[in-house]
Amino acid sequence: MTDYAPTPEFTEQAVGQASLYDEAADHEAFWAARAREYVTWSQDFGTTLDWSDAPFAKWFVGGELNASYNCVDRHVEAGNGDRVALHVVGANGDDRTITYADLLREVSKAANALESLGVTKGDRVAIYMPMIPEAVIAMLACARIGAPHSVVFGGFSSDALKARIEDGEAKLVITSDGQFRKGKAMPLKEAVDRAVPGTTAGKVLVVKRTGIDVEWDDERDVWWHEVVDSASDQHEAPAHDSEHPLFILYTSGTTGKPKGILHTTGGYLTQCAYTNAVVHDVHPETDVYWCTADIGWVTGHSYIVYGPLANGATQVLFEGTPDSPHQGVFWEIVEKYKVSILYTAPTAIRTFMKWGADIPAKYDLSSIRVLGSVGEPINPEAWRWYREHIGGGSAPIVDTWWQTETGAIMNSPLPGVTTLEPGSSQRPIPGISAEILDDEGQPLTEPEKVGYLVLTKPWPSMLRGIWGDPERYKDTYWSRFGPEYYFAGDGAKYDADGNIWILGRVDDVMNVSGHRLSTAEIESALVSHPRVAEAAVVGASDETTGQAVVAFAILRQDGETGGAESDELVQELRNHVGQQIGPIAKPRQIMIVDELPKTRSGKIMRRLLKDVAENREIGDVTTLADSSVMNLIKDGMAKPS
Ligand code: WTA
Repeated sequence: MTDYAPTPEFTEQAVGQASLYDEAADHEAFWAARAREYVTWSQDFGTTLDWSDAPFAKWFVGGELNASYNCVDRHVEAGNGDRVALHVVGANGDDRTITYADLLREVSKAANALESLGVTKGDRVAIYMPMIPEAVIAMLACARIGAPHSVVFGGFSSDALKARIEDGEAKLVITSDGQFRKGKAMPLKEAVDRAVPGTTAGKVLVVKRTGIDVEWDDERDVWWHEVVDSASDQHEAPAHDSEHPLFILYTSGTTGKPKGILHTTGGYLTQCAYTNAVVHDVHPETDVYWCTADIGWVTGHSYIVYGPLANGATQVLFEGTPDSPHQGVFWEIVEKYKVSILYTAPTAIRTFMKWGADIPAKYDLSSIRVLGSVGEPINPEAWRWYREHIGGGSAPIVDTWWQTETGAIMNSPLPGVTTLEPGSSQRPIPGISAEILDDEGQPLTEPEKVGYLVLTKPWPSMLRGIWGDPERYKDTYWSRFGPEYYFAGDGAKYDADGNIWILGRVDDVMNVSGHRLSTAEIESALVSHPRVAEAAVVGASDETTGQAVVAFAILRQDGETGGAESDELVQELRNHVGQQIGPIAKPRQIMIVDELPKTRSGKIMRRLLKDVAENREIGDVTTLADSSVMNLIKDGMAKPS
């Protein structure tokens, strides 16, 4: 068997050393030391952790800081203003280089512009943008003035954006005229124009990215280049309380309504910077780091914006997609910028595998020394391919388990310490404690026994709540096994070596290409269509995307069904879901059925539908109210659509 132990050379230079595990025996002292090591405080904190109002945590109590100052100003003050912060790789061939000194000027101007538009500390700002540097600048400008940002993924629909603006009561929306997709200019502001009316958002700040035509409301809309470019490039970063809200980020839960996950400043920044340093092994003077996530997801927040910039790293910011203008574009970028640390998702790796190893083989990838994986379990086969064909057979792979709610990496190997196990995120990093519990809440220690992953101690970057819904916060995360345990919603087991294997969600949340989608949200999108009476959605396993959305729909009796019309209808329903939520939520498959399998109490048995969707032998049907239903559905599946 191949031994994936770190080489002595790697260990020697690694940021994260084995001694961290020993140091973490004193939980609070450990984190207090990390907070002072990775963050510059304008006012030092007193109490490290206040857990007296559990599960509502306060970290680094009394401390004051500015996240934007930590990500930008202090690097310039330290004499590193000429260091490249962002190698911007545009989707239109228009690359740019932004140094830390440039970033300081741009963030200061944007902060002044936001203030001139009436945004003050505590106001929420929605950001709906493509992967352009202005998105990063906008986030840092918000953080600077203490206005929590709420970034909404640019692939979400106008309706999804509206719901998020309304829930967070955002005062301003920042967007762009359009975005480049596979070389073509596509509209973006259009969705904002539809979302904003009737909401609290009184102003829309618009970056000109593509130059496409946009509708303009003189009262409401403001061009970025008009207010930001003319603003002063001097802006004093005020100190904010350690627990001042930094951002809200919406994620799917078990109900139809997305949850606004709230993160605050001091603890979040500490854990992002620390994990980026010790897990990705970032040496800011020499490394070129590239996280391929979109800033619309938590990975982009923590590992494009806050972690690496707090560490003063040089990174690549890529606006495009892996297949445009060609399937080797990732490797072309690695070669050109000498990327040394690459952090991407299993779904991308499996896609590259499908495209073939001869594509990366055409490029010089010798600069790569650390690889990372995030968002979903990585199957050992993809892990080995990644190591072999991208990592030159030697780069350590850090498989990082964490969530929007955890804010930063929780389980992962340390690349200079851990002997790697392909497919497992292995163990909690120093400072984090996890366990696996059985149905009764008893800790499981025996290998191969499947249970639920829980976190047993509060951690600095933990969510502070769900925006506007403290009860839901308690119910969702701190009640399944009592208030001592954070319930992550993931199934897990140990192997014989004590590695933790994450087995996927145990709730009604799907993971499609590393994106979290809720079955309930897609079901409610489907039933909002006039032709649909009832719908059930399941996540079926998919070779490339991990899971795929498969929907079953019952039509209303008053409509007509059948034949060619049903193909059109299926297409219409897919588009409808795309419109309601966003293209990522479009079901791969929609089955029009006459019945859904239900228990006698009327609960839909998704487990059986999953069997159908995955072409498996159908499981136990004895609890069904009408067991013939499954035969009907199976027959329906067998028919060519
Ligand atoms: C899954 C993304 C296995 C898991 C950072 C979790 C993973 C959900 C891994 C959170 C991993 C994330 N191995 N599963 N390395 N990383 N997951 O909030 O089910 O978008 O609960 O955060 O993704 O997804 P989220």
